[in-house]
Parts: sequence; structure tokens; C-alpha cells
Amino acid sequence: MRSLLFVPGDQERKITKALDGDADVVILDLEDSVAPECKQAARALTAEVLSSAQSGPKRYVRVNPLSSGLTAQDLDHVLPAGPDGILQPKTETGDDVISLKNMMKAPLPIIAIATETASAMFGLGNYARAAPDLIAMTWGAEDLSNELGAATSRDEAGHLTDPYRLARSLCLAGARAADVEPVDTVFVDFRDHDGLHNECISAARDGFTAKLAIHPDQVAVINDVFTPSVDALAEANRLIEAFAAAGNPGVIKLDGKMFDIPHLKRAKKLISRAGAIAG
Ligand code: COA
Ligand code: MG
Repeated sequence: MRSLLFVPGDQERKITKALDGDADVVILDLEDSVAPECKQAARALTAEVLSSAQSGPKRYVRVNPLSSGLTAQDLDHVLPAGPDGILQPKTETGDDVISLKNMMKAPLPIIAIATETASAMFGLGNYARAAPDLIAMTWGAEDLSNELGAATSRDEAGHLTDPYRLARSLCLAGARAADVEPVDTVFVDFRDHDGLHNECISAARDGFTAKLAIHPDQVAVINDVFTPSVDALAEANRLIEAFAAAGNPGVIKLDGKMFDIPHLKRAKKLISRAGAIAG
């Protein structure tokens, strides 16, 4: 899973386009991109789309948050149609994920958007309890900035300001602590491909393994950056071989640098992630 493309659940033309594209996951949205008076139409269209047999991207549904009182109705409509997973917005602790799971008759993979309220910022360390249903965590700046009373989440140069860098970092650490995939948030300026590319590079460097998208033109950039490169895989294999050739000690030198167990683990992880993407 590298790219997860949002599409409003009541917009058939976009849904068709999203499902025909190269995103690893298409998220049929019933929440913030759907006006209140269109929720019912979005549920109906989403269920219809899910029911028709599909190859291609995995199909997740973003339900409305537990606090909305709409989640049960969302689930009643879409679960019989067989989504591949659920995206849960505005979670505040791992317990919210467990509550959602308990509302579903059969378990499905859940991805939590875990930084959208002020309280959520204090609950990011406890998502391990939602295993094994929780498979990934992501973060959002739009709702959080609204809650914090901010004018915007980015400065004049387009860089995230401190509260949102904190949310991003805590999401990354929280996801790793819960042993699930960390997924970077949306880049809303969808015509700015260089900006998106830079943000993907920075997210991948920090440890995120995927990114949310809002426009089909963003998918190729995201897939490219989050697919381990041939060079990176060759380097990882070279390191593993060098450890093996030395009899797998705790530490080796290679090209005049020191490498020890964390480096070996990182190399093995990269190769297993590349295998998971290819397979
Ligand atoms: N999924 C699939 N197709 C999409 C799409 C998406 N998320 N966003 C745009 N498209 C399609 C358009 O329908 C259009 O197709 P067409 O030429 O066949 O009609 C094409 O891509 C080009 O779209 P463009 O004109 O560049 O953008 P737009 O003005 O139609 O839409 C947005 C811009 C932002 C409204 C749209 O990208 C969108 O709805 N994104 C998702 C929003 C969302 O789900 N937000 C919630 C999570 S933050
Ligand atoms: Mg939102």
C-alpha cells in the first residue's frame, strides 16, 4: 500500500475514474467531502459500486466519525456490499477503533485518522490495543487546524507549522508503536507536483510508507516515491551480504562506514516491503 486516493462517495464519474486508475487503495468517502443532504445518496452509490465485481484498487470506505451519530447507518449500508476496509476519521484513542470494530459483524481492516481533534493529540500512544484490526494510522491537518483555532496549517513558504509537524511526528511514532503502517496526510495543492514530490520524499525519509491523495494526478508521484528504488534495494542486499560474509557479527565496516544491527534490520525491512508491494 503506497497511495490511497479519496473520492467523494456521491460522485460517480470520479469514482469510476479512481477505480480505473493506479492507486493501491480507493477511499470512497461518506464524510467531509459529502454534504449532509447527500449522505444517503452517497451511501447508496457507494454500496452499488462495492457490489459490482472489481479488480484493481482495494476499496475502502471512509465512514462518518463516531461522534456524528451517523456511523451505524453508514456501516448498515456499505458492509453488505463487501468493502476491503474502513477508514475511520477523528479517532481520539485506540478505544475508538475497538468501538468501531464492535459495531461491525465481521472484522475488516481499519485505518485510523488519528490527529483530527485537539484531544486526539494526547491519545496517539495507545493504538496497539486495536490490533489486529487496525492496519495503518494517518493524520490530518485540516480538521485539527480548525479545532486549534488556527488560520492555516502552513506558513507563507508552504511548510507545515509546529502544531502540524507535531501531529505528523506523533502519528508516525504512534503507528510504529502500534506496529501498523504510518500513512502521510493529503497534499491539497493538487496542481503543484513538485511540492507533492518534495513532501513525499520527506515523508518516505522519515518513515512513512504511503500517502493519501485527493486527485488522480497525484497517484503516480506517490507510487513512485513510496516504491523502494532499484538502487536502494541493491544497497540493502549488499549490506546483508556483507554481514553474512563476515559471519553475521553485531557490527561491520563497509565503504569506510560503520553498520550495526539497526542498519541490518532496516535493510531487511526494505526488502520485505518491496516484496509486499510487488506481490
Ligand atoms: N478521484 C477520481 N477522479 C477525480 C478526482 C478524484 N479524487 N478528482 C478529480 N477527478 C477527475 C475529474 O472528475 C476530472 O475527470 P474528467 O475530466 O473525466 O471529468 C479529472 O479528474 C480532472 O479533474 P480536475 O478538473 O483537475 O479537478 P476537479 O475540479 O474536477 O476536482 C477536486 C477537484 C479537489 C474537487 C477533486 O479532485 C476531488 O473531489 N478530490 C477529492 C476530495 C475528497 O475526497 N476529499 C476528502 C478527503 S480530504
Ligand atoms: Mg476531515
